[in-house]
Amino acid sequence: MLEDLRAQPGVPLDHLELLVGELRGLVQDAVWDTHLPDVVQHPGEPYPSYSLPREAELSGHHLGIASDRLRMAGATAEAQVNSLGQVENDRNEALSRDVPGTPVLVEPSRECMSAEHDSRPPSQPAYSAPERPLGHNPAMRAVQIVDLTGPDSALRVVELPEPEPSNMLTPGTGVVIDVHAAGVSFPEVLQSRGEYQLKPPLPFVPGSEVAGVVRSAPPGAQVKAGDRVAAFCGLGGFAETAVAAEFLTFGLAQELDFAQGAGLILNYHTAYFALVLRGRLREGETVLVHGAAGGVGTAALQVAKGVGARTIAVVSNDAKQRVAEEAGADEVVLLKEGWKDDVKTVSGGGVDVVLDPVGGDRFTDSLRSLREDGRLVVVGFTGGSIPEVKVNRLLLGNTEVVGAGWGAYVMGKPDLNREIGSAVNRMVDAGVIRPIVGERFSLEHAGAALEAIDQRRATGKIVLDVRAG
Ligand SMILES: NC(=O)c1ccc[n+]([C@@H]2O[C@H](COP(=O)([O-])OP(=O)(O)OC[C@H]3O[C@@H](n4cnc5c(N)ncnc54)[C@H](OP(=O)(O)O)[C@@H]3O)[C@@H](O)[C@H]2O)c1
Repeated sequence: MLEDLRAQPGVPLDHLELLVGELRGLVQDAVWDTHLPDVVQHPGEPYPSYSLPREAELSGHHLGIASDRLRMAGATAEAQVNSLGQVENDRNEALSRDVPGTPVLVEPSRECMSAEHDSRPPSQPAYSAPERPLGHNPAMRAVQIVDLTGPDSALRVVELPEPEPSNMLTPGTGVVIDVHAAGVSFPEVLQSRGEYQLKPPLPFVPGSEVAGVVRSAPPGAQVKAGDRVAAFCGLGGFAETAVAAEFLTFGLAQELDFAQGAGLILNYHTAYFALVLRGRLREGETVLVHGAAGGVGTAALQVAKGVGARTIAVVSNDAKQRVAEEAGADEVVLLKEGWKDDVKTVSGGGVDVVLDPVGGDRFTDSLRSLREDGRLVVVGFTGGSIPEVKVNRLLLGNTEVVGAGWGAYVMGKPDLNREIGSAVNRMVDAGVIRPIVGERFSLEHAGAALEAIDQRRATGKIVLDVRAG
């Protein structure tokens, strides 16, 4: 069927349901048939993949082809993402639940950037890393997650073939980047323990964002060879060479160094998306930012400033207070008994928006900190627990709780990414955005970088210096 898709110039719109049904059928076949897939690393391929029976092969590449066909057939972007997301969900769920010992994912999926904690048990490692000694004719140095005992013990520095110019979001095409710095984030900590929704077969190269110099770009890209860029690659960033989708690769202003560039996309695009597009933050309003010395937190303080809002940072200790101030917080409130009352006092009665990447037991007091028409934007759960809302509080306060999952929302929308990228770059040009870089580590010490986040020691953006300069 997928061969047919390749051959056809387009799929009529009324075949959409049929197409999705067929793809779902392939997933079921792959799982329920007796063929247990082997995981293999093809030379030149960035990620290991399954060898499924020919007729049941359903890789990200095929989903990409299907996506193209759906687009040509006139399906809306939303319909495409929903349909393909549904198929991938089925596949992942079936593979993880029903075939003991079988790895979960064939290739990274487009839902990967939206994930938080996942309660499913980790899959068994499919095979161990084909490690080779470093030092002779290395094609590319990279850090792999080789087991799920993370953070530190799960990582190895290895040699790998350089990736093909293909990103999981744009199969068969992508911007190839000589990586100078790679950003480290909470999801990599979760990935090292198999607790993240995205579960590529082991071993794999983590790293969702990088800064570096373009080696090659596809026709029509907004960047070209030799450009300094910041890019979101999803996976594969902890390496000397990475590949990103064209619409998630952005020119890096001269004012920012590579370490700052490695902290620009995940945090700042999320902050802009959460505050402006989801939280409807407006000039003159007041915003409370939790985890304000962290990556998303420092970014949110600066984006809020760029919008013309007043900022109140909530942090857990004095060192983090200094980081929040450096990031431009107008007020800083220490997280202690009664913090909500301090917020009420400094805000003059309540805030318009709360940005919450932490969750946990501070949630109810965050709701109480809102003034009428206030919005609490849910971004993450570093605190470890997912709070529940008593909705009568929303009724009584005339307030809202809004979810903001950047990855899930923007990945199928190239134009929206460009719009957010332009808005962020305008704030860079205006001098409002200056990513706060925290500790820096070499590739060899990537484990220590993950531990800094895991142990709540991180301030600003943790960065791996992948190559000098
Ligand atoms: N929704 C999205 O689209 C999206 C996008 C990017 C990231 N995220 C999520 O946003 C969250 C924050 O990411 P980040 O990069 O800002 O993380 P980070 O740099 O590690 O900062 C997180 C902050 O959370 C607070 N925290 C409270 N309890 C903690 C604990 N037990 N362990 C660690 N930190 C704790 C800490 O601040 P205090 O010590 O001051 O309390 C810390 O500074 C993560 O869950 C991440 O997955 C979501």
